[in-house]
Amino acid sequence: MRLKTSQFALLALTSHISALIRFQCSQLVVERLDPLVTPGQVPSPHVHQIVGGNSFNSTMEPSKDMPGESTCMTCQFSEDFSNYWAAVLYFKTRNGTYKRMPQHSNAGFEGATGGGMTVYYITDPLYDSQPKSKVTAFKPGFQIFIGDVNARSKSEAARFQQLTYTCMSDPGSRKKKVVSFPQHACGYGIMTSVRFPTCWDGVNLDSPAHMAHISYPESGTFESAGPCPATHPVRVSQVMYEVIWDTSKFNDPANWPDDGSQPFVWSFGDPTGYANHGDYVFGWKGDALQNILDTSYYATSYGGKQQSIAAMNKCAGLPKTVDKNIGVDTWLTELPGGHGAEESRSSHG
Ligand SMILES: *[C@@H]1O[C@H](CO)[C@@H](O)[C@H](O)[C@H]1NC(C)=O
Ligand SMILES: *[C@@H]1O[C@H](CO)[C@@H](O)[C@H](O)[C@H]1NC(C)=O
Repeated sequence: MRLKTSQFALLALTSHISALIRFQCSQLVVERLDPLVTPGQVPSPHVHQIVGGNSFNSTMEPSKDMPGESTCMTCQFSEDFSNYWAAVLYFKTRNGTYKRMPQHSNAGFEGATGGGMTVYYITDPLYDSQPKSKVTAFKPGFQIFIGDVNARSKSEAARFQQLTYTCMSDPGSRKKKVVSFPQHACGYGIMTSVRFPTCWDGVNLDSPAHMAHISYPESGTFESAGPCPATHPVRVSQVMYEVIWDTSKFNDPANWPDDGSQPFVWSFGDPTGYANHGDYVFGWKGDALQNILDTSYYATSYGGKQQSIAAMNKCAGLPKTVDKNIGVDTWLTELPGGHGAEESRSSHG
C-alpha cells in the first residue's frame, strides 16, 4: 500500500461503498504441501508457507469446501477460514549452502507467529472515488493460483500484473516495486506482494492451471479501473497479500556472490524472482465476506468479528506431515525437494 495518513482520512470521508480490509495472519505451517498444484502429493516439490484455516491438507477439492471444516484459523477475521500460501525465500551463501529467511509481521501486527502474511480485500482502485458496480464475493470451493513457477525472465513474467517486490529500508518502505529480486542489499527486508486478478467468469470455482476462470481487466489494470472482459464479467475484490522477509542479517557483502548477482532464491530454485506466485482457497463463512464488501470499511476500522493475535497464534502449527529440516536454523546443502542451484541468469533490472 502506498497510502499516506492524509489519504486514509480522505477515503474515510467519501460516501460511496468502498471496502478495503487489511489484516494479519500468523503462520499455520511451513510445509511441503500444495493441494492446488500437486494435490495428494506428500511431500510436494517445494516448501510453502501456509496461513488460514487449520483444515488445510494435501488435498482440498472445491466440492468439499475444506476450509469450512476448520476449527480455528490463524487470520485475524474469525469468519475467514480461507487458506493463503506462497513459496518460501532462502539465502544462498558463497559456499553454496542455504538458509531459510525469517519474517517480519507488518508494522502494527507484531507478534504474529512466524511473521505470517498481511492479507487485503479491496473493492476499488485506491485513489478512485467514483462509485463502482457491486463486487461479488467468492463462493465456497473457489480457488486460484497466480504466477508462473517456470518464469525466469521479465518477458515471461510480463503476462502477470502486480506480482512484485519492495526493497525495504525500514518497516514503512513502500516505494519502488520491482518484478525481480532487488539487486542490492535491503536494510530491513524484502517485501513480496501478490495481487490476484479481479474478473471472474461467474461460473467455475476452479479451472485447469487454476487460472482460466479468472482474468485481469480487458484493458488497463485494476488500479486504473479497467473493465472486465465479456468472458469474465463478474467483478470480484482484489485479494492481495504481503510477506516481509527479514533479510537484514544476510546483507554482509562478504557472503554475497562475487559475480555481482544477488543471493536470494525461492524454495523451488528460482534465483531471479520472476516466478513469484501465490495460492488462495476461499473459506469465508456464509455471507461474511459479501457483507464486508457491501459496506464501507477502511483498513482495520472494520468492527466485525476479529480475534486477537494471541488467539491466531494458538491455531498456528499443524502436525507436520513432512518432518524435514527446512533450514530455519541450519545451513542446508540443497533446497528441500532437491532443487539444485539454478545458475543466475544475470537478471539485473
Ligand atoms: C489430511 O489428509 C490425509 C490423507 O487424505 C488424512 O489421512 C488426514 O486425516 C487429513 N488430515 C486432516 C487434518 O484432515
Ligand atoms: C557456509 O557458510 C555459512 C555462512 O557463512 C557457514 O555458517 C557454514 O559453516 C558454511 N558451511 C560450509 C560447509 O563451509
